[in-house]
Amino acid sequence: MCGIVGYIGERQAKPVLMSSLSRLEYRGYDSCGIAIAGSHVEVYKDAVRVKVLEKVLPPMPGTMGIGHTRWATHGEPSQVNAHPHGDCTGEISVVHNGVINNFQKLKQQLVAEGHKFISETDTEVISHLVEKYYVGNLEEAVTVALHDIDGSYAIVVLKADEPKLVVARKDSPLIIGVGDRENFVASDVPAILDYTSRVIYLEDDDIGVITRDSINIRRHNADVKRKTHQISWNVEDAQKAGYEHFMLKEIHEQPKVIRDTIGGYISAAEPVADLTKSLDTGLGEILILASGTSYHAALIGKYIMEDLFKVAVRTELASEFNYYGQSPVRGQTIVITQSGETADALKAIKRLKEENCRVIVITNVPGSTASRIADQVVDTRAGPEISVAATKSFIAQLMALYWLALPYAKVDIRKLDNLIMGLRQLPGKVQRVLDNVNAVSECARQLSKYNDVFFIGRGINFPVALEGALKLKEISYIHAEGYAAGELKHGPFALLGADTPVVAIIAQDNTAEVMLTNIKEVKARRSPVIAVVGEDNEAISELADSVITVPQVDAIFSPVVNTVVLQLLAYYTAKYRGCPIDFPRNLAKSVTVE
Ligand code: AGP
Ligand code: GLU
Repeated sequence: MCGIVGYIGERQAKPVLMSSLSRLEYRGYDSCGIAIAGSHVEVYKDAVRVKVLEKVLPPMPGTMGIGHTRWATHGEPSQVNAHPHGDCTGEISVVHNGVINNFQKLKQQLVAEGHKFISETDTEVISHLVEKYYVGNLEEAVTVALHDIDGSYAIVVLKADEPKLVVARKDSPLIIGVGDRENFVASDVPAILDYTSRVIYLEDDDIGVITRDSINIRRHNADVKRKTHQISWNVEDAQKAGYEHFMLKEIHEQPKVIRDTIGGYISAAEPVADLTKSLDTGLGEILILASGTSYHAALIGKYIMEDLFKVAVRTELASEFNYYGQSPVRGQTIVITQSGETADALKAIKRLKEENCRVIVITNVPGSTASRIADQVVDTRAGPEISVAATKSFIAQLMALYWLALPYAKVDIRKLDNLIMGLRQLPGKVQRVLDNVNAVSECARQLSKYNDVFFIGRGINFPVALEGALKLKEISYIHAEGYAAGELKHGPFALLGADTPVVAIIAQDNTAEVMLTNIKEVKARRSPVIAVVGEDNEAISELADSVITVPQVDAIFSPVVNTVVLQLLAYYTAKYRGCPIDFPRNLAKSVTVE
């Protein structure tokens, strides 16, 4: 999610808000805006860069204000969808990071009660709810409004003629910068470091009232005291929230990303995209196109859909499809592209549209070119991904594929409930993988000494082997190959030996036994083996040289926990080799050329 700033004090708010927003630009965003309150609220916003907005701002006098850089999740990037958002009176203004899962229902209710909406965003319901419940006390109105909301939020609310900022957070970070006769609010520490190094971290369900001279925080209707921390980071460290690299920060954001994406889909209680054209005819065909890591998600999507739909699903590399691939004559195509700007993906979409194929795009960037030319868009809502290596956007793509598939799954209601339960448990399972970092880091220390590595897996974990190899390649510069475990004996055995370790991914499914055989074959050729395996799989520990255990999950979800292990393995291997990690040589975050 994106950037929030707020100021109340003795300075003119406009320059403080704009300089604070510029400190949050590194997170990526599609639009920005500010509101400054005096006897009335003045708002200026647009789908432009911060510097562009700054150049066109009118004077906007006032010593209290809020600002936002938006990463769209509901409603394309545009002036009207940019934050801050107001109520009908124009006297209340809100900035919001997060996703409101039940906003459609709330919006319908508010419209029925006479509220006029002007944006497509979920956020706008907040300003109208506060207006609805306002009877002279802003913090009370915000408190009541938040009871109606299901979702994640960090918000700052202001009202004309009330010299206070009301803040609240749930599942989206928000901090208070403590000044002298002035106070600051931000979604992230870098925004306030130019003004103060004293920071209060709000906790979930905190609601704060901030004036020039006071900070009062309540939680569940009781006053709470939150510690004031002294920040010693410089701005660049702060932008990584204390992590050494954006990649590590983004790997650790994955439990929240899963919660945000699945939470949004489950609350929407409707399919994220319409696959009936492919499935109702029974003869339909689903084609999934992508590049790089997104192609690995496409391959996993194939396994998911063939398992749940019992129909054939074809995957193609977009770069190959563009020169020879056959378009699906009856079904439809899914194109997965986190950036929404990959040239290979865009070329494929344009060709499919020319051939009258229906195209669903799964992307992390609403308003991207791919999302604007698609017939349907599934937003993965992973928030900005800075590191070139795709991590949280990949996991979010898997969530989108699970949710795309479930409504059409040919399973009984009990199995469906178990699958949804399994999805809901994933944030906790992934957190346990992240907590087991020492075991992974030790394997990485070993792996960093080699120059050639194989990753092997079977079934739904074959694409995980491909993804693990790509991650290692792109950030540690070690030559790594992902291989179907059953294929090693058809040639690559010639390369095995003490200098070529093998990372074996073993899921608790019908391939577990044959994977043990494959590991024995590899060991017989003296390759060291690192096994990634479900907990309490005793058989493997006698066989492999190192074992990294993952929490037990249904096999269909094993790519999620296994991939997070391999992301960490690649990260720490690259770290041991002293590689730059976030911005690897020769690579770009979005490959906009063929
Ligand atoms: C993944 O870590 C790489 N950065 C790269 O393979 C990437 O997945 C590929 O370029 C596709 O990008 P897209 O998802 O934005 O289309
Ligand atoms: N869901 C809100 C929107 O789409 C906030 C997005 C964000 O966190 O930047 O406007």
